Amino acid sequence: MERVTVSRLAIIGAGTMGAGIAQVAAESGYEVRLSDVGEDFLEKALGTIRKFVGRKVEKGEISQEVCKENLNRIKPTTDLTAAVAGADLVLEVIPENVEMKKNLFRKLDSLTPLETILASNTSTLSITEIGAATNRAQKVVGMHFFNPAPVMKLVEVVKGEKTSEETVEIASGVCQRMGKTPIVVRDIPGFIVNRFLGLLYNEAANLVYRGVASPEDVDTAMRLGANHPMGPLQIADLAGVDVVLAALEAVYAATKEERYKPCPLFAKMVKQGKLGRKTGEGFYRY
Ligand SMILES: NC(=O)c1ccc[n+]([C@@H]2O[C@H](COP(=O)([O-])OP(=O)(O)OC[C@H]3O[C@@H](n4cnc5c(N)ncnc54)[C@H](O)[C@@H]3O)[C@@H](O)[C@H]2O)c1
Repeated sequence: MERVTVSRLAIIGAGTMGAGIAQVAAESGYEVRLSDVGEDFLEKALGTIRKFVGRKVEKGEISQEVCKENLNRIKPTTDLTAAVAGADLVLEVIPENVEMKKNLFRKLDSLTPLETILASNTSTLSITEIGAATNRAQKVVGMHFFNPAPVMKLVEVVKGEKTSEETVEIASGVCQRMGKTPIVVRDIPGFIVNRFLGLLYNEAANLVYRGVASPEDVDTAMRLGANHPMGPLQIADLAGVDVVLAALEAVYAATKEERYKPCPLFAKMVKQGKLGRKTGEGFYRY
């Protein structure tokens, strides 16, 4: 499927998603330059990757040699110019802030040859808008991986208004080589998965907020009545209540559709620091 051969990736942003994507890319044979603004972020990311890849050796899934080869394919650097030099595809994985992303894309546009594909892992922002910050909108595409990236099989490949078919095909080919299933989606707020999840989170939180049922009962209803593997509030706690709120706010701001208006309970919980698993309490206590 890859008409243009992609062999070297630059991943910009080494947080939760950047580290996971770097791991799966290196395991799939890509040479990866992983970049962040500080050495400490890169060290943390590499520590996480070493831990997860090391576990595969312990479980006998891969040899020590393969583990070493995979890890050696990841080259960390805080120097953006060095990170993108020779990259066939640059994937941006920095925080979900449109001005930050546009700024970075402007830089990437000036640092890389025009044929280099510039991709974004954004969950909710417009690829068309991000692409407009460059002189190569046809080469700008969304590659929305899910958390944890090494495990989750789906990638939403987002086609901005000006993204070319060839760019979509190349990005989809890269996802497939990483063992993922890409789906192509037009550039609408929240794409597909977050539009559905947003509605589920919102309805579940509204039921709790109105005193209709407890979080446990709402989740039990969806697990046993709809056969969902996890209840929506369990997923919200896992993803982070702040992350859920931000995603709903972004989709609501872009669509103005009432159904995406965040349930007030989310903002209340964020104020109280009840962000889910990461703070020890969300809809549940951990
Ligand atoms: N966490 C999730 O569940 C999830 C899932 C899918 C998509 N996303 C999307 O992925 C993106 C990243 O999310 P995350 O959860 O990994 O965030 P994160 O905060 O864990 O990581 C972001 C990293 O980017 C770095 N960074 C900031 N500015 C930078 C710059 N100019 N250059 C290089 N590095 C920079 C930060 O230091 C940080 O290490 C966001 O767009 C988010 O919406 C997140």
